[in-house]
Amino acid sequence: MSTGTIVITGGNSGIGYAAASALLRATDGPWHVVVASRDAGRTRAAVDELARVTRTGHAVTAMALDLASLASVRSFATDLAGRVRSGDVPPLHAVVCNAGVQAGTTRTETADGFESTFGVNHLGHFLLVRELLPVLVAPARVVVVSSDTHDPARKLGVPAPAWHDARALARGELGPAAASDKPFAAGQRRYSTSKLANVYFTYALARRLPAGVTANAFNPGLVPGTGLQREAAAPLRFASKHVLPHLKWLLRRVVTTDVHTAAESGGALAWLATAPELADTTGRYFDGRRAVRSSDESYDVARADALWEDSVALTSPA
Ligand SMILES: NC(=O)c1ccc[n+]([C@@H]2O[C@H](COP(=O)([O-])OP(=O)(O)OC[C@H]3O[C@@H](n4cnc5c(N)ncnc54)[C@H](OP(=O)(O)O)[C@@H]3O)[C@@H](O)[C@H]2O)c1
Repeated sequence: MSTGTIVITGGNSGIGYAAASALLRATDGPWHVVVASRDAGRTRAAVDELARVTRTGHAVTAMALDLASLASVRSFATDLAGRVRSGDVPPLHAVVCNAGVQAGTTRTETADGFESTFGVNHLGHFLLVRELLPVLVAPARVVVVSSDTHDPARKLGVPAPAWHDARALARGELGPAAASDKPFAAGQRRYSTSKLANVYFTYALARRLPAGVTANAFNPGLVPGTGLQREAAAPLRFASKHVLPHLKWLLRRVVTTDVHTAAESGGALAWLATAPELADTTGRYFDGRRAVRSSDESYDVARADALWEDSVALTSPA
């Protein structure tokens, strides 16, 4: 019998898949990993593949979750909470908010009319965690995958976040710094802004969770070759998928962030979700396996609290 259930959003691909794979091959646990993702076919295929590497005792399940639909998030959480309460699955040990999108040049909306980057990366995860709080009982963890693109001091070449209140961000309106952005820069800036929202959410959540339930943010570093660039222009998509993964040695010289394989970053993410030595660590930002400071503006408590209150309102049933 597994000792705990670990939900990984976007566990069918990239870093989330690698984290699931690390957990299912681990010698601790054993874990029941729920791969939660939007496309039934891709999720099933990933779970079939994961089942092949799963060590005896662990278990892996596919569950449908579309973070771009509040109804889907509610239905997922109700289903999972019911299974936990009935003892059908082991107690909830961790929710890993890993799924993410990076817009290309086109602005898209979720089913509820929110700009997709903010809607999926922040609001969908915000609602998911809040809906699961009743079954997130100690000892348990929330890990939110952010990115060092949230921090302009890292000088990564991605436009800095342009913070605005959550209602404006949900409409796709960034702060004044984005006023003259061309469509590609605007998409990139929406991404870095959503990753700043991930950090605010983590810190605000950590202040609200009961003792023994922790919340930490995670930066995987640069992980070329995942599906994150799927909305980018064809040349960038091709380079990211097929060229950059083979040029890690070169990337390491030219970028100011750590460059990792999905297996390395997924391993660090799995560690954050399960390492016994982190049982009491909460409200921290991890660069891989190192707790570091996040950006200066990410420590603005008033902003984080305002984001929390606005997100409650935005995700409440109409
Ligand atoms: N790769 C990097 O260099 C890097 C750097 C810093 C941070 N990150 C962060 O790492 C996380 C994982 O990204 P990745 O690089 O592994 O990219 P990825 O391979 O594209 O993985 C993203 C996952 O999110 C899922 N997803 C997207 N929209 C969803 C929705 N509406 N509902 C449910 N699931 C959805 C995708 O599912 P589908 O397969 O169905 O699209 C996919 O499984 C993201 O939060 C990203 O911001 C990545």
